[in-house]
Amino acid sequence: MQIFFFSLSLILCFVLIFSETLEDDKKALLDFLSNFNLSLHRWNQSSPVCHLWTGVTCSENRDRIVSLRLPGVGFNGSIPLFTISRLSALKILSLRKNQFTGEFPCDFINLKNLTHLYLQHNRFSGPLPAILSELKSLKVLDLSNNGFNGSIPNSLSGLTSLRVLNLANNSFSGEIPDLDLPSLRQINLSNNRLIGTIPKSLQRFQSSAFSGNNITQEKEKQHKTPFGLSQLAFLLILAAACILGVSGLSCMMITCFGKTRISGKLRKRDSSSSPPGNWTSRDDHTEEGGKIIFFGGRNHSFDLDDLLSSSAEVLGKGAFGTTYKVTMEDMSTVVVKRLKEVVVGRREFEQQMEIIGMIRHDNVADLKAYYYSKDDKLAVYSYYSQGSLFEMLHGNRGMYDRVPLDWDARLRIATGAARGLAKIHEGNNGRFIHGNIKSSNIFLDSQSYGCIGDLGLTTIMRSLPQNTCLTSGYHAPEITDTRRSSQFSDVYSFGVVLLELLTGKSPASPAPGVSETTPQGENMDLASWIRSVVVKEWTGEVFDMEILSQSGGVEEEMVEMLQIGLACVALKQQERPHIAQVVKMIEDIRSIDAE
Ligand SMILES: *[C@@H]1O[C@H](CO)[C@@H](O)[C@H](O)[C@H]1NC(C)=O
Ligand SMILES: *[C@@H]1O[C@H](CO)[C@@H](O)[C@H](O)[C@H]1NC(C)=O
Ligand SMILES: *[C@@H]1O[C@H](CO)[C@@H](O)[C@H](O)[C@H]1NC(C)=O
Ligand SMILES: *[C@@H]1O[C@H](CO)[C@@H](O)[C@H](O)[C@H]1NC(C)=O
Ligand SMILES: *[C@@H]1O[C@H](CO)[C@@H](O)[C@H](O)[C@H]1NC(C)=O
Ligand SMILES: *[C@@H]1O[C@H](CO)[C@@H](O)[C@H](O)[C@H]1NC(C)=O
Ligand SMILES: *[C@@H]1O[C@H](CO)[C@@H](O)[C@H](O)[C@H]1NC(C)=O
Ligand SMILES: *[C@@H]1O[C@H](CO)[C@@H](O)[C@H](O)[C@H]1NC(C)=O
Repeated sequence: MQIFFFSLSLILCFVLIFSETLEDDKKALLDFLSNFNLSLHRWNQSSPVCHLWTGVTCSENRDRIVSLRLPGVGFNGSIPLFTISRLSALKILSLRKNQFTGEFPCDFINLKNLTHLYLQHNRFSGPLPAILSELKSLKVLDLSNNGFNGSIPNSLSGLTSLRVLNLANNSFSGEIPDLDLPSLRQINLSNNRLIGTIPKSLQRFQSSAFSGNNITQEKEKQHKTPFGLSQLAFLLILAAACILGVSGLSCMMITCFGKTRISGKLRKRDSSSSPPGNWTSRDDHTEEGGKIIFFGGRNHSFDLDDLLSSSAEVLGKGAFGTTYKVTMEDMSTVVVKRLKEVVVGRREFEQQMEIIGMIRHDNVADLKAYYYSKDDKLAVYSYYSQGSLFEMLHGNRGMYDRVPLDWDARLRIATGAARGLAKIHEGNNGRFIHGNIKSSNIFLDSQSYGCIGDLGLTTIMRSLPQNTCLTSGYHAPEITDTRRSSQFSDVYSFGVVLLELLTGKSPASPAPGVSETTPQGENMDLASWIRSVVVKEWTGEVFDMEILSQSGGVEEEMVEMLQIGLACVALKQQERPHIAQVVKMIEDIRSIDAE
């Protein structure tokens, strides 16, 4: 009898009517949902599945469903056979934090293109089928916090693409199989009933990955620096960094160091090479009031768990903390700022975030969510793949692979950024202040217009130190405390950005390369230098050679822009134009919108 049921279930795993079209996919989902006493937003026959249905993402040409994410929706009961498994183009499936029961749905092996499977925090039970190894595309498998039992199948060795395996907090028993998975970067088998020793293939992982079992620890200690470099390499880099620092190039060092770490792939819960807690401590969100707040009415396609378990790369370290680029489960990308030096309490922090969250504009990087707890304050913004204006203007200068930024592109950036700032100044009943306008906070949107990021942090953070490489050149002369920024000082900083666009020179130290016009210019910032040059009527000489050599007939427009920039950097704040006027003046140079 048992054998009969066993073979029957094997057959059931294979026999399948595949979906071939979007309509079939939609039908499969409705069949799935009909088994539960639940309704999901817009999940009905008459609404278009790709755009509207909660948790559903389609392929680029909208012919199939490629991701289904329904975390914490409240499903109860077992997953009906031949429903979800008909979505044969599915790549990402997340059903975590529900109350699904029953065995691992063996028909999932038909999801040949599945790369990410998240079933953690449910009430699944029983053994894992050996046939799971048929999911050849699988990169991430998280079955933690369920009631799975039996032994861990040897056949998991067949999941050759697997990068992350989490089976923690189940009831797996027996010995750990020797899983030969070269791509595996993260594993957690803690809190099961495993016995024996850690097989050779898995000894490269931290011992905490095996804790809570009856395992004999026979691991050699690993001597690795946090980023997986050998100690010698690490020391060499450190030494080089010190030497650079001494020679006054500390700005460069910060940038370079940031870049090295990007390739170091900082990852929460990563392999042995990075200690836990590098990204953020996982338990924070359970502590009182530590809750992630979303904006924009998006159906929560990510939560704090996603954020913390996603791969994070360090984009940079600034005065306000570390900025990470985080790629989520659903492959979308966001920027997460982990704020240090927050000087206000929870309430003021939340108030400020709520104001920022209300500011929605094409030319302002959205604040998508924020998080506040005692130990961590996070702000989540949109990510712009083309990098910042700073990188575009100053990156790879003089190198063969420099991509020049022509005048039209710069005009577009100035137009967008001005509109964005105007929108920001309308916030909080017309009193909102950005406080940290600079080229590294300006990004390019999909139409290549400028777009302002890093919104609204200045007033809740410790005052920025004056005249460091991070800030100098952008601050209006009257600002001695960055927390006391004003709309006037924002306009000043924006004016400096315009001058930077025109000259291609960095605001902190324009002097190198312009020594012939400014004999005393070593300590002059960009605005002062331009003022001094313009007085001497050498206007033409300030412009970026890169623009002048490219296109003819734009010098008139550039001179107009120079006038606007100079008006913005007026020494007396009352003489600076309002940002709305600046928008108008820039638009008057040439209407680029229609082009
Ligand atoms: C379905 O859910 C509703 C409320 O969520 C409940 O009132 C109703 O009794 C449920 N029906 C069944 C059959 O469980
Ligand atoms: C289906 O969705 C549409 C649009 O969201 C809505 O107008 C309609 O009432 C829904 N129908 C049912 C049966 O829920
Ligand atoms: C889940 O379903 C079982 C029985 O089907 C029921 O006893 C239990 O209360 C349900 N749990 C929730 C949270 O709805
Ligand atoms: C699975 O992925 C492959 C390669 O990306 C693709 O060619 C194929 O069409 C996909 N299968 C389905 C059913 O979408
Ligand atoms: C797994 O759990 C089920 C009950 O959920 C039990 O019947 C079975 O004997 C267990 N198997 C093992 C190997 O512990
Ligand atoms: C296992 O459960 C414990 C206690 O609920 C929890 O703290 C821990 O984070 C869980 N482990 C994983 C890897 O989810
Ligand atoms: C594995 O999960 C346990 C909690 O269940 C945690 O304490 C441990 O740090 C985790 N280890 C790794 C390497 O992620
Ligand atoms: C741990 O495993 C060993 C054999 O590997 C066994 O002798 C011992 O009793 C086990 N201890 C516990 C607490 O289960």
